[in-house]
Amino acid sequence: MTDLSMTKTPLLTVEHLTMRFGGLVANSDVSFVANNAEITAIIGPNGAGKTTLFNCITGFYTPTVGRLTLRHPDGKEFLLERMPGYRISQKASVARTFQNIRLFGGMSVLENLVVAQHNKLIRASGFSIAGLLGLPSYRKAESEAIDLAKYWLDRVRLLDFADWSAGNLPYGAQRRLEIARAMCTEPVLLCLDEPAAGLNPRESAELAELLTFIRDDHKTGVLLIEHDMSVVMRISDHVVVLDYGRKISDGDPAFVKNDPAVIRAYLGEDEDAELPAEVANDLPEVAQNDVKRAEEGA
Ligand SMILES: Nc1ncnc2c1ncn2[C@@H]1O[C@H](COP(=O)(O)OP(=O)(O)OP(=O)(O)O)[C@@H](O)[C@H]1O
Ligand SMILES: [Mg+2]
Repeated sequence: MTDLSMTKTPLLTVEHLTMRFGGLVANSDVSFVANNAEITAIIGPNGAGKTTLFNCITGFYTPTVGRLTLRHPDGKEFLLERMPGYRISQKASVARTFQNIRLFGGMSVLENLVVAQHNKLIRASGFSIAGLLGLPSYRKAESEAIDLAKYWLDRVRLLDFADWSAGNLPYGAQRRLEIARAMCTEPVLLCLDEPAAGLNPRESAELAELLTFIRDDHKTGVLLIEHDMSVVMRISDHVVVLDYGRKISDGDPAFVKNDPAVIRAYLGEDEDAELPAEVANDLPEVAQNDVKRAEEGA
């Protein structure tokens, strides 16, 4: 008997995505599938086109060419390349975080999470001031929004900081708060742009645990741009590698890690290129031997 829980269902299908800025091609004919309730990592050297890909998925940019289809688990389909950004977050339920933190620094930690749920709250107000002032449905929606905010604050270990100004939190806590804020919108697809950047090893391990919880317990699909290979290789179900805007590899972590095209992209064609420290420990020995040989002038 087939175990349906093991069946992969496509959530985001990217077909022939090309994004040009004048003469610069940031994404070139990129195609891949990200499955529901899986973590799909997007990796690649600086300038490879990872953030541009996110900007196309979330409607910040309209792709020059290509189709981006999001299929919800209930079967509803959205052609993202035809939708403006605000509809992609509201209707298609895609949430994202940014490479540089974008919280409301002057608002409290809790307020940041309640404000993120404004669509739900505005609907419950009946789009009127009268609604805001007294409708029982609004009061109910507001208390549900606070409950959801507290649930996610607890998950990211920030419940004790609910009344702090978000801007006063330490850096690692701000990163976690951003993820909690995105999850408060109850997304079907969560896009994270370098969430481990600037975290210490303990915080990175906690982040990895949070992302697997989001995948396994909430069945949310996660697209993860990340340079920290220890996080990527440990938690990803699927890895897509970009280099100079093109997809150069696509498969499970073990496949991608040993793919000569990936090793070349990180090492460069240049034999004496230095392997970046954050990838050195995670690439196979053969690549590291190449570096040693180059250093020894072999
Ligand atoms: N709005 C824009 N206008 C012009 N060029 C852009 C724009 N956005 C991105 N680019 C260019 O597209 C290329 C890919 O950039 P992108 O930010 O997507 O790379 P990345 O893979 O996210 O890199 P990093 O790892 O450094 O964050 C770069 O050459 C960048 O300069
Ligand atoms: Mg980027």
